[in-house]
Parts: sequence; structure tokens; C-alpha cells
Amino acid sequence: FRQIKVSDDDFGLLGYDPGFLNTASCKSSITFIDGDRGILRYRGYPIEQLAEHSTFLETAYLLIKGELPDQERLAQWTYNIRHHTMTHSNLVKFMDGFRYDAHPMGILVGTVGALSTFYPDAKDIGNVDSRKLQIRRLIGKIPTLAAMSFRHSMGFPYVQPDNDLSFSGNFLSMMFRMTELRYTPNPVLERALDVLFILHADHEQNCSTNAVRAVGSSGVDPYTAVAAGCAALYGPKHGGANEAVIRMLMEIGSVDRVPEFIKSVKAGSGRLMGFGHRVYKNYDPRAKIIKKIAFEVFEETGRSPLLDIALELEKIALEDDYFISRKLYPNVDFYSGLIYQAMGFPMDMFPVLFAIGRIPGWLSQWSEHVRDTDQKIARPRQIYLGEGERDWVAVDSRP
Ligand code: ACO
Repeated sequence: FRQIKVSDDDFGLLGYDPGFLNTASCKSSITFIDGDRGILRYRGYPIEQLAEHSTFLETAYLLIKGELPDQERLAQWTYNIRHHTMTHSNLVKFMDGFRYDAHPMGILVGTVGALSTFYPDAKDIGNVDSRKLQIRRLIGKIPTLAAMSFRHSMGFPYVQPDNDLSFSGNFLSMMFRMTELRYTPNPVLERALDVLFILHADHEQNCSTNAVRAVGSSGVDPYTAVAAGCAALYGPKHGGANEAVIRMLMEIGSVDRVPEFIKSVKAGSGRLMGFGHRVYKNYDPRAKIIKKIAFEVFEETGRSPLLDIALELEKIALEDDYFISRKLYPNVDFYSGLIYQAMGFPMDMFPVLFAIGRIPGWLSQWSEHVRDTDQKIARPRQIYLGEGERDWVAVDSRP
């Protein structure tokens, strides 16, 4: 930069890329996306294969450690995560302190951040064993905190983890168990939720992952860095789009009103929620898988009338020049909210579910960032457009 600086008060050359549309902030070996061809791979494995054959905990292992585990490693990993599903009893008191109607995502941001005060050993981020321990703790505890945040907001008593169940089965139990009797998850819904978690597990430098990396670059513990990721996900432009889809479908109200709605979108009244993506300029590969899951789930729960509206919207939009020319296709959010709703999750919980799925992505990216010797504290520059130097003026002399 200095070489092209032409005078002392000149900044030299700065790249200006708001929203990082064309700026890579890191090197990464975790997730590959080809938006034009609709390709998503974790550590080289196509998302379609992982959704078909893997489990969420196995995919988490893959993202964090770089390879699929053998049977022994998978069993040990599963045991280790289960070992960390409980929370300190003081955290329950902390949870109880939130207002009765607090948003579960706000509770999650606060309680994940609070975990750093329970585990001061997490500050030792240069210690590989400590990093591994914090990663296991976070993956184990996030579903517990998530379910507690829901039950708190509903005024229901908390449910202890049932570690004989799968990762997703245990989460469903902590969410929906209403009696002393053991909760037996519906296997179709349990598998569907597990696959939804797999599909959300990583997506390279999205807003929340970028937040985790940026905050983590200060050297802070992973609980605080992940709380920053949760905070980013709380925003409607990131974790809230599937809720917006449901609200849009409810507003449309019936299949015969779809053409009129599409016409109004084309006239500029608003966006077709769940359509379009910054990176995918083709069908989002996750949306294809989610659409299939939606039918499987509705076989169990009964078909939502909103599904028919969504199908009609997709059909019309995919044949319409406005959407074709702008390369607008359904994204991951178009059908996911419908599935969550059919499973019994309230809309407030949608971003919380996203956070549970994204946790291995955040942690693998944080861990990669910490180990990357090229990395420095995230500290972008700015293009200053303010005043030049001027002298302070006494208050009674100001114009
Ligand atoms: N409905 C109608 N038109 C759209 C839509 C949409 N969903 N998305 C983009 N467009 C149009 C824009 O109006 C623009 O048209 P123009 O060229 O005539 O002005 C053109 O397509 C390009 O739009 P951009 O805003 O430049 O595209 P960008 O890549 O910045 O936006 C985004 C991507 C934010 C996802 C956008 O498609 C959108 O708002 N979609 C709806 C919200 C949504 O579903 N978000 C979830 C994303 S996935 C996730 O976060 C997990």
C-alpha cells in the first residue's frame, strides 16, 4: 500500500467490499460450495450422500476432525458428547432469570455466552486438549440449553437429557416430554430432524460463521465466540427466513391466490421468501433434500395446507421469466419451516434449531482459525468520509 501512497495524508490503496461479496477472509478445508452448479460438500463428501447415510453426530465428527470416524472412534465420540449433555445447576438459575416470555434465541445467546464463566479452562485456546474438551461440551450442551429456552418460554418444567436416545431423539425428548414416562420419539421425525441438522451443519463463510471467526480472532474462549455466532443467527436476514416463509404462506392463505401473489412480487411489493441465495444461482442442493423430507414428515403428521401453497408457488416461480432470468430458486428455508411446524416447534424456535445444526460448523471453523498461523485479529479498514481536521469550539460560540 505504501508504495502507491502519493502523499502523507493519502491512505494508499484499500479494497472496498461491503458485505464481502468478493473478499475471502480465510483459507479453509472444511466446506466447498459451487453456487452455479448447486454443489455443497463437507470435507469433500457431497451433502446428498451425508443426508442419505450419515448421522448428525458422525457429520459433526467429520467437520471437526476432517475424516469420517471408524466404528470405535464414532462410539467414543458419541459417548463423549453424551457425557456433556447436562448443565450446571447454577445455569438453571440463570435461565430462570429470563422474563417469562423471553425469545428462546435471546436466551440461547445469553446462556451460551454464560458457559464461558462456568469453564474458565476454555481460555487456554492454545491447548489442543482444552480445545477438544470445549468442543465436546458445546455440542453436548447446546441442545439442552435450546430445549430449556423453549420450556422456559412456555412455562414448562425442564426435562433432563435422556442419553440412551440419539442426539436428535434426546433433543425431541427434552422439548416435548410432558409426563414422567420416558419419551419415545417418532423414528421418522427423529431421522428427519437429524438430517435437517446435517444440512445446516456448515455453509462456509456465512454471517454467523464469519462472526464466530471474527470474535474468535481476538483470542477469546469458544463459548463467547459461539455466542457471537448465535447472535448473528438471531437476525431475520440469517436465521429468520424460514419463519418469514411461513408468515408469507399464511398471508397468501390459499392455492388460488398464488398467481396474484407472484404478480405482486414481480411488481416490487416484496420478495418471495425462501427464494434466492447470495451464492446459489441454481437449486440449493439442501432445498431438494428438504423437499423430500417434507413429504415423509407430512405422511406422519398430516399434510399442512401451507404445503400446497408452497408447491404451487414453486411451480409457478420456476416457470416464470422473472425468477428464471434472476436465477432465483428455492433455498434451504423454503420448506424447512413447514417441517419444523409440522413437528410441533413454534416459530420462535426456528433459529434455535438452526443454531443446534450449525454448531459443528462454527466449532470446526473456529478451531481451523485458531490453528491458522496466517490469521491475525479480524480488523478491516474503512473508507473515511468525515470531516478533515478542525479546532474545538466553545459551546457558546458554536453556530
Ligand atoms: N423474490 C423476488 N425477487 C428477488 C428475490 C426474491 N426472493 N431475491 C432476489 N430477487 C431479485 C432482486 O429484486 C433483484 O432484482 P433486480 O435485479 O431486478 O433488482 C435480483 O433478484 C438480485 O437480488 P439481490 O438482492 O441482488 O440478490 P442477493 O444475492 O444480494 O440476495 C437473498 C440474496 C438476500 C437471499 C435474496 O435472494 C432474498 O432476499 N431472498 C429472500 C429471503 C430469503 O429467503 N433468505 C434466506 C437466504 S438462505 C439463508 O440465509 C440460510
